[in-house]
Amino acid sequence: MNKVLTVQDFIFKNVDINIPEKGSFTWKTPSNIALVKYWGKREPQIPKNPSISFTLDACFTITTLEFSKRNSGEKNINFDIYFEGEKKDDFKPKIAKFFTLIQQYVPFITDYDFVIHSRNSFPHSSGIASSASGMAALALCIMSLEKQLNPTITDKFFNKKASFLARLGSGSASRSIEGELVVWGKHNDIKDSSDLYGAKFPSTIHTNFKNYHDTILLVDKGEKQVSSTLGHNLMHNHPFAEKRFEQAHQNLSKLAIILQKGDLRGFINIVESEALTLHAMMLTSNPYFILMKPNTLSIINKIWEFRAQTNSNVCFTLDAGANVHVLFPEKEKKSVNQFIVNELLSFCQNNHYICDRVGVGAKQI
Ligand code: PMV
Repeated sequence: MNKVLTVQDFIFKNVDINIPEKGSFTWKTPSNIALVKYWGKREPQIPKNPSISFTLDACFTITTLEFSKRNSGEKNINFDIYFEGEKKDDFKPKIAKFFTLIQQYVPFITDYDFVIHSRNSFPHSSGIASSASGMAALALCIMSLEKQLNPTITDKFFNKKASFLARLGSGSASRSIEGELVVWGKHNDIKDSSDLYGAKFPSTIHTNFKNYHDTILLVDKGEKQVSSTLGHNLMHNHPFAEKRFEQAHQNLSKLAIILQKGDLRGFINIVESEALTLHAMMLTSNPYFILMKPNTLSIINKIWEFRAQTNSNVCFTLDAGANVHVLFPEKEKKSVNQFIVNELLSFCQNNHYICDRVGVGAKQI
């Protein structure tokens, strides 16, 4: 199935073959880091511009969904959530909202009682958002249940619908199902791209971008001062919004060629500009806010100095926070790792950092 799917395609079709009573599914699902950023959306979680991300490997969530069919026949959303072994009632509203949003596409969820067990490979208070990997893992568990109810669905459909559901929980979660590069948002140059779900970058990626490294420098491990929901909303009536959305389209066109050609310098230019533009949108919204910290800027300047001195292809990107993602090719791992340890770790909170790289996507375990 290589057609672009519509919302109608994602409405559950009951084939009444096999109604599982009880069981569990477990998925390990990676985080991702955007190269062209998504910032700005409209209902229902439709991005204002297309984005592309590297799927990560070492930063992941493992979620188990235990399900048991309710005997009473009563229909409602009922679940308990445990995070790292501890019952977390304060996580419930976000997940309840997610279940309510996806109910029209997976109506069978109201027939079951669920227990969710989730844990992350990265520390909870690391400033790394777990919503992408967390929502994607939950969406995949629900799709595993759908697959039991309807074994006729194909693997392609399974992934697309998992991404479609994950998107409704957190936009960037739509890009955490597959690897190594995923596009979310309709773009005329990118085959099969859609606003409704993430799709694997369709062209062959140059070897320069295989096994790309992402070392995440934990500059500030605190909770985000401004939620991404609030940030996205500030793009409504933002004075630069329309130009920004246009620019993201153009940057994705350019990056698509760069990734195929192996143009490392072109990559640096787009990726760093995208990171700074994301933060420029925050600086110029109203209310305005700053998520970078002094150490974020110190690291950026150090990276620029190192690049000027050594001709390295190391570069940075930023998420909606102060942490810095240091990106570099596999063949430079020795020299860049040394540079990070010698010159950048002192800017990290408690010298903490995470060595990650591009990964292949979610796995059922
Ligand atoms: O998925 P959300 O709603 O948390 O938004 C994430 C937005 C950024 O991480 C800042 C950019 C992106 O494309 O991942």
